Amino acid sequence: MTAKELRQKYLDFFKEKGHAIIPSAPLVPENDPTVLFTTAGMHPLVPFLMGEKHPLGTRLANVQKCVRTPDIDDVGDNRHLTFFEMMGNWSLGDYFKREAIEWSFEFMTSEKWLGLDPRRIYVTVFEGDDDAPLDQESINIWKEQFQKAGIEAKVTEDKKVDYEKRIVPLGKDDNWWGPAGETGPCGPDSEMFYDVAPENGPVEGNFEELNGPRLVEIWNDVFMEYNKKADGTFEKLDQQNVDTGMGLERTLVTLTGKENVFETDIFQPILRKIEDISGKSYKDEENQKPMRVVSDHLRTATFMIADGVAPSNVERGYILRRIIRRAVRQGKMLGIENDFTPKIAEVVIEEYKDAYPELEKKKEGIVGELAGEEAKFRVTLEKGLKKIKEIIAESRKDEKISGDKAFYLFSTYGFPLELTKEIAREHNMSVDEDGYHEEFKKHQDLSRTASAGMFKGGLADAGEKSARLHTATHLLLAALRKVLGGHVEQKGSNITADRLRFDFSHGEKMTPEQIAETEKMVNEAIGKNIEVKCAEMTLEEAGKMGATGVFGEKYGEKVKVYSIYGFSKEICGGPHAASTGELGKFRIVKEESSSAGVRRIKAVLE
Ligand code: ALA
Repeated sequence: MTAKELRQKYLDFFKEKGHAIIPSAPLVPENDPTVLFTTAGMHPLVPFLMGEKHPLGTRLANVQKCVRTPDIDDVGDNRHLTFFEMMGNWSLGDYFKREAIEWSFEFMTSEKWLGLDPRRIYVTVFEGDDDAPLDQESINIWKEQFQKAGIEAKVTEDKKVDYEKRIVPLGKDDNWWGPAGETGPCGPDSEMFYDVAPENGPVEGNFEELNGPRLVEIWNDVFMEYNKKADGTFEKLDQQNVDTGMGLERTLVTLTGKENVFETDIFQPILRKIEDISGKSYKDEENQKPMRVVSDHLRTATFMIADGVAPSNVERGYILRRIIRRAVRQGKMLGIENDFTPKIAEVVIEEYKDAYPELEKKKEGIVGELAGEEAKFRVTLEKGLKKIKEIIAESRKDEKISGDKAFYLFSTYGFPLELTKEIAREHNMSVDEDGYHEEFKKHQDLSRTASAGMFKGGLADAGEKSARLHTATHLLLAALRKVLGGHVEQKGSNITADRLRFDFSHGEKMTPEQIAETEKMVNEAIGKNIEVKCAEMTLEEAGKMGATGVFGEKYGEKVKVYSIYGFSKEICGGPHAASTGELGKFRIVKEESSSAGVRRIKAVLE
């Protein structure tokens, strides 16, 4: 089976079950300013899971491109990826547990579909807690499914699984999915695992130890009947939804019996190209890590650029820059010294263009962007590597690269902090990250002071009026992303006591309708008098909860995240109004060009 055949089978199956097939949404969420990337198929469907009517009905299915970045540094082993495809089917208040589980079982085991051996399938269900009960209904339905295949499936009480005890109840950490951000639809789930090594004798032992090496998770059925609220509590939704996600790469590995995803038809052509360019063989163990990193990262970069992300030092752009630069350096470890990222992207485009036609359409842009970023980095890479070697030698006794040196490597040689950390790790050393962030802040403050003569800094006047305008700025950014699209990012902000000025990325003049719509949305949020909440957390946690803002270096380790429930979540230093009701009426007084690709809005609160 190939990736293409698997995609087709999945969609055909759910079409037969009355599902409308919807296209993959872009990697950059279109209507959700609170997250950086689409991380699951349900993400773009949140409004419909919450009750809005979907134009194509109540049964949907698709194959969704996803990016998950918390594990970037682990890529290079045989299983971590930053990009993956998720096959999913949804019920929007239509069918619930029975059909979802029956169809999962049928699709997995029927000879007509995947033909997996039911004896090798193990499942987990939610064990229950204060928020929701044990999922007995799913247990019963699973028992019936296994019975159809002649298997008496039992529930394990102590997490020890064997041939009979193949239904495992687990807690929220394992069997509860969502919300994708901080709040929203979520619920108990039931996950399906496949025994990938039956030749090693019967499955027997603690589920947690078997999960991964022996039992590989391939599918997750989420029963989304709850909404997580901003205060952390759960309420029942008006409709019972199903959200499922079947990982394409993992399922393909399972079906083909290959050792890992890099052996499948997804990665083989990319790896062949890297072998071609480097003249090295993937079979040699020492080449495997760098080849995997290059193939994973450039596959992700190709898809990101196709969806409008450009390398930069903030947010999505920073993640893109970081993975391209890491790929370039790993390529260098394979001896590749020339312009190679566009060549890899061309293979990715060729492989994926049928399933994702946008790649072919954006080919020129993708290739150009990669070539540009690679060239920019290569100018300083050689010298930077020499410099870091010196730094490592002179810092050896501290076992740590100091913050100012790490910052120097970034500002002078374009080494993202994570790259410096990776190289330090290779030499059994660490980096003073706090020191790096402090250094960065100092640098920022200096450049701010330098321009302070022209205008009072972002929040020079921290009086109440400007706090209110600052809160309005957050609402404005969220509204602009809804009205104009997810490409809108903050490019600058300046607040005086009586007006806000906000620069943002957008290529065209806004129409009067768009301006009116933006104003309306902000005023609606004001009308709802929503509390402005602030929480302190690490940058990483902020990223995980999907806050927007400047990632990478602008802030210290701990950041503040300001949330306006239902509208925005931003990393920001404050201060803000206590609730949106204090803002009064919001009016845009001017919309004009600021520089190429950047628009400027001036607005007041009346
Ligand atoms: N949204 C669920 C997941 O990502 C299906 O596992």
